[in-house]
Amino acid sequence: MEEKFAEDFIFGGATAAFQVEGATSEDGRGPCCWDEYLKRPGSRFNGDMASDFYHKYKDDLELSQKFGINGIRISISWSRIIPQGKGAVNQLGINFYDRLIDECIQNNVEPFVTLHHFDTPLGLFEDGDWLNRETIDHFVAYAKVCFENFGDRVVKWATFNEPWSIAQNGYIIGNFPPNVQYDIPKAVQIMHNMMVAHAKVVELYKSMNLKGEIGIVHTLEGKCPISDKPEDKRAAYLDDMLANRFMLDACFKGKYDAETLQTVEEILTANDGSFKVFDGDMESLAAAAKHIDFLGMNYYSSHFLQAYDGESKIHHNGTGEKGTSIFALKGIGARVSNSAVETTDWDWPIYPQGMYEMLMRIKRDYPNYKKIYIAENGMGYKDDFEDGKIDDTPRIEYIKKHFSYILKAIADGVNVKGYYVWSLMDVLSWSNGYNKRYGLFYVDFNTQERYPKKSAYWFKKVAETKHLVS
Ligand code: BG6
Repeated sequence: MEEKFAEDFIFGGATAAFQVEGATSEDGRGPCCWDEYLKRPGSRFNGDMASDFYHKYKDDLELSQKFGINGIRISISWSRIIPQGKGAVNQLGINFYDRLIDECIQNNVEPFVTLHHFDTPLGLFEDGDWLNRETIDHFVAYAKVCFENFGDRVVKWATFNEPWSIAQNGYIIGNFPPNVQYDIPKAVQIMHNMMVAHAKVVELYKSMNLKGEIGIVHTLEGKCPISDKPEDKRAAYLDDMLANRFMLDACFKGKYDAETLQTVEEILTANDGSFKVFDGDMESLAAAAKHIDFLGMNYYSSHFLQAYDGESKIHHNGTGEKGTSIFALKGIGARVSNSAVETTDWDWPIYPQGMYEMLMRIKRDYPNYKKIYIAENGMGYKDDFEDGKIDDTPRIEYIKKHFSYILKAIADGVNVKGYYVWSLMDVLSWSNGYNKRYGLFYVDFNTQERYPKKSAYWFKKVAETKHLVS
């Protein structure tokens, strides 16, 4: 195993516009789908203030730099740049990201910018979001505005963050807008359409001859059979096909392998549906697969699968009450607990070797990948705040285990160039609110004061020495 990270390895922190910025009605920003969703009666929280990054970004970047962090994932809020999602550009929105990007650079904290992190402008969302093919053209137009304005300084761009989460949470689990459950055909159509949008934006970026690199961020989840039984293996294979392989094929092979296509069609038939490929889609995917510069890999967890032949049944644990999750899908399988594997309070299995296995698989199955950034990894935890001190030792242990598997993958030939912890500071958690914390920096959401957690001091030592210190 490698003992040390390379000198140019990025030790970053990740954020996303809606989860940190707040200031949702400032400086001409239009509404996004999450503003509307979290304002419905009964909602337990909203994003109006979030971590107030819109006003506190200078402090956050100064703090990052002091703690050895040399990269930050930010996303651009589409509805700050183009308030209605299409049409007029909002100069005040451009000015904000100009200031933010300049401040990152001045602090030697390199910005890694994602164009879409779940927050489609409300008007486009109501017109069908990614099920409406016109959204693809609007996204390309928005990307062009971003490249023209920030492409001189930003050298790392991602088209999307986690299309699988949008598909799964919005159309299968139902805990993201539009809160549809069990509609696997729509989930697949959304993923396909987003892959086409991604491809068109990659091609646009390359046509503009800018100096940086462009990729996509996927959440990749290991799918392990709970036993050696062939039917459990099949369940893991099917869940993997939807969550991982379908979109990895699109991005890195520029097509869906015959086996991928056939299996996805079988899943869709079991769920009374199909998905449609439009004229020119496959050409777009093929072109972009030749040019994509990196894979951003988010890895939190793996799932253990058991065969299941009943109707779909899901309960999402959005409160941190351990053991309350249910996830069983018709035509696929059930995610079950594995007594040998610890979980977080939100029932996410802690399975760092799954990250190693996924990294090795990318190298094996997609040999044309150029480099990988771990774009998110981290642990949701109910931090205790005592006299300004936060002892989050379980989070340190979690990150440390994942770091050691990254070093092992690097030693085994995978080109991993950076790691962005989720999250830089505590942020709004989409379906869990403010009690599920991930940050290196604790945020008091009443005062918006920041406090470094024990994990921040530990991360600083690793970033400075490049060694996995205890
Ligand atoms: C990733 C997202 O899926 O997981 C982040 O990119 C998100 O935006 C993170 O916050 C953790 O998810 P959650 O639901 O625990 O907040």
